[in-house]
Amino acid sequence: MKGLILSGGAGTRLRPLTHTRAKQLVPIANKPVLFYGIEDMAAAGISEIAIVVGDTHQEIREAVGDGSRFGVDVDYIRQQAPLGLAHCVHIAWDFLGDDSFVMYLGDNMLEQGLAEFVEEFEAQQEQSPDPSRAQILLAPVENPSAFGVAELGPGGDVVSLVEKPADPPSNLALAGVYIFDSAIHEAVRAIEPSARGELEITDAIEWLIRSGHRVSHRLLDGWWIDTGKKDPLLECNRLVLDTVVRRVEGAVDGASRVEGRVVVAQGAEIVNSTVRGPAVIGANTRIENTFIGPYTSIGDECAITDTELDHSVVLEGCRIEGANRITDSLIGQHVQVTRSSERRQASRLMLGDHSHLELG
Ligand code: G1P
Repeated sequence: MKGLILSGGAGTRLRPLTHTRAKQLVPIANKPVLFYGIEDMAAAGISEIAIVVGDTHQEIREAVGDGSRFGVDVDYIRQQAPLGLAHCVHIAWDFLGDDSFVMYLGDNMLEQGLAEFVEEFEAQQEQSPDPSRAQILLAPVENPSAFGVAELGPGGDVVSLVEKPADPPSNLALAGVYIFDSAIHEAVRAIEPSARGELEITDAIEWLIRSGHRVSHRLLDGWWIDTGKKDPLLECNRLVLDTVVRRVEGAVDGASRVEGRVVVAQGAEIVNSTVRGPAVIGANTRIENTFIGPYTSIGDECAITDTELDHSVVLEGCRIEGANRITDSLIGQHVQVTRSSERRQASRLMLGDHSHLELG
C-alpha cells in the first residue's frame, strides 16, 4: 500500500497567510497540518508516500524533506495547475504503478487514524471473492451540497456518487480519504472535466461503479475538519490542543502561573504572566505581563507583552504589545501589533492583501 497526499491547492480562502505560505503548512498546535497526515500514514504502515505539490512546492519540500524524520520515503510530484483530484492520480501513475494506495487531502485532519481503514480494505482484498476496487470515508454533514455526496444501496455498497449536487441524494459527504486499487487509473483517464474545469475524483469513482466495480465505504469515527478557512482551523486547533500533554521545558518565573494542559517549549520564557491551557507556547517565545487563555497556540520566536490573548493561532516571529484583548484570531508570521504611545483614537494599519481586521 502506497500513500498519495494532495497538497497542490492554492489556499485562497486562507489569504493573506497563503500569499506567503502553503496552506498545508499552517500549524495546528504548532505543527503543520500536513505533518499530521504523513504521521498518520506512517502509523498505518505506509512507507512510500508521494506528495502532489503545486506553486508552493519549494516550501513543502523544505518542510518535509525526504521523509526520513517521519520514518518514510517521500517523493514529490509537480502539478502544473490545479486541475482536480483525479488529475493528481493521473500524474502519479509512474509512482503508484499497480499498487493500491491511500489518497489523502493534505489540508484535511481526522480524529480517527488511518490504520483500521487500511486494514479493512486489505482484509477484504484477500478474503472477498468480489473485492471492492475503492473504499471511501463518509461523514454525515449538514450542507452536503458543498461536498462530494454518496448514495448507499441496501447492502452498504456505494451505488452512486455526485460532486457538489444541488439536490443531494443523502447527507453523506466524501471526507477526503480514499483507498484505490489499480482500477482507478482507467477511471481517471475515462472521465471529462467537471463544470469547474477539474477532473473530479468523485466522477472517477462513479465511473468505477458504472463499469460494474464494487466501491465500499466506512463511516467516519470522530471529527474531520478541512483546515482551509480561519474558523475551522481555529476549531481544529482547539480539538488538537485538547489532546496535548502538559510539558514545561521553558522558564516560568515566580510571578507567573501555568495552568492545566500547557506546553512551554524549550527556550520560552513566561514572565509575570498567566498561561491557562490548553495552550502551546513555541520555542524562544517570551510572554510578559500577559494572559494567554485557553485554546491558543503561539509559534516560535514571538514576543507578547501587556496583552490578553485567547482562542487564537499566532505563527512564528510575531510581536504583540499592549493589545488589550485578542480572541478568535489567526495571525501570520512576523506580524507586529503594537500600541501607540500617543493617546489617539485612530488605529494605524499596514495589512497584507486580503487581510481581515475586525476592530473591537
Ligand atoms: C473535495 C472533493 C469533495 C470532498 C471534499 C472533502 O472538494 O472534490 O468530493 O467532499 O474535497 O474536503 P473541494 O475541497 O475540492 O471543494
